[in-house]
Amino acid sequence: MLVLGIETSCDETGVALVEDGSRVRSNVIADQRTLHDRYGGVVPEVASRAHVDLLHPAVEQALAFGGARLNDVDGFAVTVGPGLAGSLLVGVAAAKAYALALDRPLIGVNHLIAHVYANVIEHGPLPLPAAVFVVSGGHTSLLVMGSDGAFRVLGQTIDDAAGEAYDKVARVLGLGYPGGPILDRLAAGGDPGAVRFPRALLDDGTDDFSLSGLKTAVLRHVRAVARSGGQLRPADVAASFQEAVVDVQVSKVVGAARREGLDTVLLAGGVAANSRLRSRLRDEARKAGIRVLVPSPALCTDNGAMVACAGSLALERGERSPLDVGADPNLPIVPGVGRRAVRRASARPRQAD
Ligand code: KG4
Ligand code: ZN
Repeated sequence: MLVLGIETSCDETGVALVEDGSRVRSNVIADQRTLHDRYGGVVPEVASRAHVDLLHPAVEQALAFGGARLNDVDGFAVTVGPGLAGSLLVGVAAAKAYALALDRPLIGVNHLIAHVYANVIEHGPLPLPAAVFVVSGGHTSLLVMGSDGAFRVLGQTIDDAAGEAYDKVARVLGLGYPGGPILDRLAAGGDPGAVRFPRALLDDGTDDFSLSGLKTAVLRHVRAVARSGGQLRPADVAASFQEAVVDVQVSKVVGAARREGLDTVLLAGGVAANSRLRSRLRDEARKAGIRVLVPSPALCTDNGAMVACAGSLALERGERSPLDVGADPNLPIVPGVGRRAVRRASARPRQAD
């Protein structure tokens, strides 16, 4: 079965062709970064217009690279939420049009669940049950994925998402957007013990996270150094910030997996590309007899392959979405369990709040 996956939930236009649920024949990502760079964050209106321009060429490319014609596609998978409303709508409208014109099934996919399924592409069928940690620009969620593939929420962020914190701190340090990967690289040359930043909720006994205080602490540090006329060491600040984030993440994820009696952790989302999180989580989990599965960095950030993969498996189970399926910017990972609105919806240029 050949499935074409479309991802337009934020600022990446992703289209991929995936065969039999996990073999990636092509994975095209049209990056909008240069368009949003000067605003210091994603501007929703700019993003949705760019998707309109980029989507059709990306579909053509995905078909060409995958050695297929549109008529060879057996089904269309598309992200229906969560994400930016206008951006989601572009992908959803296109997928509906293809499905209708070619008389092929359509399947709407939850973006966060697609992130988790990126693991299937590289590691094969998911060993369930497992603890799942989804860390992206809009979300930080610690979950249990049961043997039936259903999710149960253990905890989530009570303020900023992980990627949001990386992006805001990068902005404070004047590093550009998206800040996560830049900060990750910069931190490699810094001292993680240079500045002692707070580790919020580290031992609070919950599976929740909080990052807004840490972000403010970085801002205060930067201002204090400027006031004192000292020399700011961006690499040390980056490494110290990252260490504070990762300390809490690793402690909570391993702690939750142990408590729930789970021997596997599935790591997913754009922040799962973070080199320090990947290595420290693997090390700490190994000590507890827990294995960590994580996609390669390119499949951690938004892409069409993960959508095609999750969609293929749903189509194989006989699931279908109606042609009037809508986009839901706040689609929860567990039906009926609401969550805060996606806060990336508004870019706040050059200022951490
Ligand atoms: O999953 P994703 O591509 O988009 C959303 O669904 O939000 O995640 C994007 C986020 C951005 O905030 C980006 O800065 C962050 O993931 N990110 C990273 C790294 N690579 C991407 N954060 C930390 N370290 C990285 N290496
Ligand atoms: Zn994402």
